[in-house]
Amino acid sequence: MNGGNGNRTAGADQDAAAVPRADVLPAGGATPEGEPRCVLRATGLVKRYGNVVAIRASDFDLRAGEVLAVVGDNGAGKSSLIKALSGALVPDAGVIELDGRPVAFRSPHEAREAGIETVYQTLAMAPQMDIAANLYLGRPLRRAGTLGLLRMLDHRRMREEAARQLDALGIATVQDIGQVVGSLSGGQRQAVAVARAAMFGSRVIIMDEPTAALGVRESRQVLELIARIRDRGVPVVLISHDMPQVFEIADRIHIHRLGRRTAVVEPARCSMTEVVGLMTGALRVTEDGTITEQALSAPHRKEGTA
Ligand SMILES: Nc1ncnc2c1ncn2[C@@H]1O[C@H](COP(=O)(O)OP(=O)(O)O)[C@@H](O)[C@H]1O
Ligand SMILES: [Mg+2]
Repeated sequence: MNGGNGNRTAGADQDAAAVPRADVLPAGGATPEGEPRCVLRATGLVKRYGNVVAIRASDFDLRAGEVLAVVGDNGAGKSSLIKALSGALVPDAGVIELDGRPVAFRSPHEAREAGIETVYQTLAMAPQMDIAANLYLGRPLRRAGTLGLLRMLDHRRMREEAARQLDALGIATVQDIGQVVGSLSGGQRQAVAVARAAMFGSRVIIMDEPTAALGVRESRQVLELIARIRDRGVPVVLISHDMPQVFEIADRIHIHRLGRRTAVVEPARCSMTEVVGLMTGALRVTEDGTITEQALSAPHRKEGTA
């Protein structure tokens, strides 16, 4: 341990009276006061896979108008966390609130209905279908009419609407909306997946490593897309390994380690080295919000990797 317990008045031995740079998140993760509106919040989430505890009493909060990056080592539980938030898995314990109201999604469909769209690490696309059809996968537009279930698919309207949406999102590289998705480049495919999320995600958009498989230029386009989505008023959760990318686009960084949130920091007020240190456990956040070296006593526990 390092320093007194929560006593800020005594002259600290380090960089005097430093402004806290990180949210202090002792066990349980009390949220700090005076924060902006919280759109999506989770408290005490737990998920076990047999003997493996993927999420151990983790907290999470996403604020209005932000890009929140979620970072952490392989196996830290990032994907499990966002799956819990997006209905892809049902947590064993914990509470999730959307706009202040408790929700309990039993499927991604239910989360979508509530306005939460997710781009998973493994893209769910139909490669043999065209872009427009993929954008409307699972919720196609049908022609107006009175035939109920027999109403015809409205391909023309889907194409027009899809083209309009891609345009509005500034996705210029796709030339033909009728092109089959299987013929697109990785980046274009990712752009279509992100566009689909942006079209339907009215409250929250979650992306799990959207640029992991992309080149520099393609990544840039996806990043610009994320910024545009945020600027249109929908907060974005971005899981990413790419530190420069995270520092460029995130308003806050949620650091996940060994199944739980260990800190939340602002990229404007800390360094990449510090975030990496918090990720690996070399650094920790003290009770007054300073980032400091971890006490050496606890030996590193080997964790399973994904
Ligand atoms: N379906 C599963 N069955 C068993 N173990 C799993 C499953 N999914 C994830 N895990 C385990 O849970 C832990 C967290 O995994 P994951 O959420 O994928 O982490 P991350 O996305 O941070 O790499 C890892 O130890 C992983 O092996
Ligand atoms: Mg993952």
